[in-house]
Amino acid sequence: MPSNTTLTQYLIEQQRANGQIPSQLRLLLEVVSRSCKSISLAVNKGALGNVLGSANSENVQGEVQKKLDIIANDVLIEANEWGGHLAAMASEEMDSIYPVPNRYPQGEYLLLFDPLDGSSNIDVNVSIGTIFSVLKKPEGLSGVTDTDFLQAGTRQVAAGYCIYGPQTTLVLTVGAGVAMFTLDREQGSFMLTQEHLRIPEDTQEFAINMSNMRHWDAPVRRYIDECLAGKEGPLGKDFNMRWVASMVADVHRILMRGGIFLYPWDKRDPAKPGKLRLMYEANPMSWLVEQAGGSATNGRQRILDIQPARLHERVAVILGSRNEVERVTGYHDPI
Ligand code: AHG
Ligand code: MN
Ligand code: MN
Repeated sequence: MPSNTTLTQYLIEQQRANGQIPSQLRLLLEVVSRSCKSISLAVNKGALGNVLGSANSENVQGEVQKKLDIIANDVLIEANEWGGHLAAMASEEMDSIYPVPNRYPQGEYLLLFDPLDGSSNIDVNVSIGTIFSVLKKPEGLSGVTDTDFLQAGTRQVAAGYCIYGPQTTLVLTVGAGVAMFTLDREQGSFMLTQEHLRIPEDTQEFAINMSNMRHWDAPVRRYIDECLAGKEGPLGKDFNMRWVASMVADVHRILMRGGIFLYPWDKRDPAKPGKLRLMYEANPMSWLVEQAGGSATNGRQRILDIQPARLHERVAVILGSRNEVERVTGYHDPI
């Protein structure tokens, strides 16, 4: 592969090497990456582009939408609806699925996204991102419904995220490891900057919102207590803690240097299995983490094996360095 490899070159090479990427999927990934470039520009403009602050509306999950949540959602829809590669899209910010309008050709893929992850960080200039997952529409059915989207994470054909931080970085898997591309703003291209990302099996860094401690269940409380006990405790090592409150940024750090991320079920709203969304956040991130040698569970089950029952389903998430994820999972009762 050439030393100055663009995302396009990388995808073509993958297509040649293992037939992993049909041309429709390649087009889809290129269009998503182009959308991310344009979201990145909007994010960079900040107050100058009048993109900060609340949109004074709520999404289907009752969360207040920020202007950028809506801008990013619109960018992804407009860029992807006409290319002929998609049958439909689904987004954290839309109540129901968005079938490709009849005036455009229909493709065989389904695109799911969290258009803007880390909304609480938009207005304070902290890293945010876009998370996406790609499924194939089940064969033999005309039209498209919610049910077509209800596929386990193991069925994903591509997944990734783009983080808008000090650099804009796209991280991608098509099932042959994880590759990372950095946006070269002069060229306007995502350039391959790291391949075959690996998460160390062990770690001394955990990420959890500690302010929820009193609401946690016993297994999570036990694990974090053990981390806090440090060298003298049962884990025999001192831990460091990080919590950005943008899943993209926390997962990115884990892909770069290891760590464990937890957003567990808690007693604040016992009927909710967790805060994070299975289809837009947990599945794509879990696949990336597994492709980099890490693990991802909800405490009792591998996330990628969960059969979704609803589009906007939520899930508890424990992911990252394999040995620590397995340890916490072992503290839970099996299903
Ligand atoms: P979103 O902005 O897409 O709604 O996601 C925010 C999520 C996730 O990015 C982050 O890990 C978590 O919310 C932070 O939650 P707390 O504010 O409860 O820590
Ligand atoms: Mn999110
Ligand atoms: Mn979001």
